[in-house]
Amino acid sequence: MPDIQSIIAHMTLEEKATLCTGATAWSTTPIERLGVPEMYVTDGPHGVRRAAEAGVFIGSSLPATCFPTASCLASTWNADLIHAMGQALGEECIALKVDVLLGPSVNMKRTPVCGRNFEYFSEDPYLAGELAASLINGVQSKGVGTSLKHYAANNQEFERFNISAEVDERTLREIYFPAFETAIKQAQPWTVMCAYNKLNGTYCSEHHRLLVDILKDEWAFEGFAVSDWGAVHDRVASLRGGLDLEMPGPKDRRVQAVVDAVRAGELDEAVLNESVRRILRIVFKAAETPKGGAFDVEAHHTLARQIAAEGMVLLKNNGLLPLKNPQHIAVIGRAAKQAHFQGGGSSHINPTKVAVPFKEIQQLAEHAGLTYAEGYPTDNTFKQALIDEAVVLAKAADVALLYVALPTYKESEGYDRADLDLTEQQVALIKAVAAIQPNTIVILNNGAPVAISDWFDAPAAILEAWMMGQAGGGAIADVLFGRVNPSGKLAETYPLNLADTPAYLNFPGENGEVRYGEGLFIGYRYYDAKGVPVQFPFGYGLSYTTFAYSNPTVSAATFMDVDGLTVSIDVTNTGSLAGKEVVQVYVHDRQSRLVRPPKELKGFAKVELQPGETKTVSIPLDFRAFAFYDPAYQQWVTEDGEFDLLIGASSADIRGTVTVTLQSTLQLPCILKRESTIKEWLAYSHSKPAIESQIKQLLSPMAAAFGGGVDGNDTIGMDTMTFLMDMPLLSVLQFQESAFPRPVEALVDDLLEQAYR
Ligand code: BGC
Repeated sequence: MPDIQSIIAHMTLEEKATLCTGATAWSTTPIERLGVPEMYVTDGPHGVRRAAEAGVFIGSSLPATCFPTASCLASTWNADLIHAMGQALGEECIALKVDVLLGPSVNMKRTPVCGRNFEYFSEDPYLAGELAASLINGVQSKGVGTSLKHYAANNQEFERFNISAEVDERTLREIYFPAFETAIKQAQPWTVMCAYNKLNGTYCSEHHRLLVDILKDEWAFEGFAVSDWGAVHDRVASLRGGLDLEMPGPKDRRVQAVVDAVRAGELDEAVLNESVRRILRIVFKAAETPKGGAFDVEAHHTLARQIAAEGMVLLKNNGLLPLKNPQHIAVIGRAAKQAHFQGGGSSHINPTKVAVPFKEIQQLAEHAGLTYAEGYPTDNTFKQALIDEAVVLAKAADVALLYVALPTYKESEGYDRADLDLTEQQVALIKAVAAIQPNTIVILNNGAPVAISDWFDAPAAILEAWMMGQAGGGAIADVLFGRVNPSGKLAETYPLNLADTPAYLNFPGENGEVRYGEGLFIGYRYYDAKGVPVQFPFGYGLSYTTFAYSNPTVSAATFMDVDGLTVSIDVTNTGSLAGKEVVQVYVHDRQSRLVRPPKELKGFAKVELQPGETKTVSIPLDFRAFAFYDPAYQQWVTEDGEFDLLIGASSADIRGTVTVTLQSTLQLPCILKRESTIKEWLAYSHSKPAIESQIKQLLSPMAAAFGGGVDGNDTIGMDTMTFLMDMPLLSVLQFQESAFPRPVEALVDDLLEQAYR
């Protein structure tokens, strides 16, 4: 690595400003006289979309492996497998001469209809963060960078370029930030991409608190912040806000504006230098990895198949699956011949090859006769003749495989879905085929939940095959024929109705603002808290075998928050097939000062078991597993008390519970103020008897007026104690001003002075 400070010292102001804005759609500006190379970036996230013509923004791209999209990846709950995918992506970047891959995307699935949900991992920040960190570590282990995106609160496509996400601090800290925070702390992505939208009124591209105070200072992010493509509105403001690189380029007028601002004293050159330093560090780091050569197309296709098979989620099975040597299979649905394996937008990959689901079935069902019917058209039109044709084939077969994919353009970057529905024709097809053929299996291809309740009862089995990547056609066959025992579990809840979903009343916003009124309660946090029934809960997925959980234990029943603890449970494969189980640990706080979701995922492990085999699964829980973010203290807070550790096979299938007692090591600062309530005063002064007795003394005239002690009486038909406790001490004293020799404000200020002393 060359001496970056010395290079900066030799750079002209113009060179610095130019470096901070892209040279082309995908590259940074080289500075030949100082030996600064160009750096090349490319989308991302589940494949390498390297433009065929280097600088072209929208155009054809070079062939690369299209891996399953993030919904499928997350459903594997397999960090090691995702790490392996990261390594493969890194190898493809090297072969295709790419320095930084633009991904992964860790935005939360606030609503199931966000058009880009297929690119995002989960509704749960813990799961998304762990898996993203693994992907980043995989890519970067090859000497290729990543771009963690889109920071932050980019949870819809509607008006994504200018809408302001209105989110309170605690919700940001507990729901929308942690996946970023975890990925940064565990994996140090080389770059972080800011979101297009505003957060609480300020563009993310100019958000100093977001980019500098939190990302760089608090989380110690070492790389550089890059804009989403076209997210910068005011280049000078964005540099001040901590946005190091603007993309795409070139943008001569922006560069000039920066130069002028420095000359006019409006932009401190030190700010520019810091961005230059961050960019140069990564540019030189990228240059250390020699680029070119080839990647192993076959090996990566095989890996993509393995990931797809492990991410598919068996939603229903009446025992028909795995298939037992059927002789005559009716394959129905366009998606059997035209694999639907990725979504629309910047992540769209030109695959090296595509496994056709029909052919893959043919290969595994060597001795079976296969028939095919299209079943439904490409668009939303209704064609009864296609249903009739399918029914005839289904009737004549032993089994009907029904491949149902959402229409190609329904899920994409740039717009959201209007509903959760399959097309009218698809629903009619499923019902008609299942009515004639009891052995009907529905295979779904989509990137986010679809409505199922209307036809759930009809088929014998349902397999969620996601946007499964280019090899997914083979993975479906592997699962249907039992070559792979399904082990995927949902990383997002399947609601019954769109109207049941947490953000329903606040989505997508209006007049330029979207209010995150549901706060912390997205995904299962919401359904749990409200007792809203769902189609399939978070963490759900079936297997061809069964697992028994027994003997839950903890390393310590009473523990200090900073020490954390380890929870263990024995898992036994009680069926007759080898399989993998995802063990999930949720934490429930029995009592807390602030409202908390009923339970939150804080650990998980995937374990492989032979029939009859038992393994002990141990999952560590740290300080953060028990803490909440308290905006009043502006920090993560633990409280003394009991927590239930819920160990489950899904968020709704808890198999073992252990209760533990936490001892907090926090010494929280005093935050009392003039308007603090009596309850707050007493809670604080509990350990300060001198203050406590003064408060009781001050309250005695009011207590006397009520005709008794502060413990309450029924003079005016109320619970005096409850009434008083919730009032500011000052307000209570004001009612009895005449009882005191001094102004009551002075009395409270005295107490405050003692409290802060
Ligand atoms: C997307 C990013 C993407 C970039 C470059 C933007 O529109 O939001 O995710 O990396 O384009 O293609």
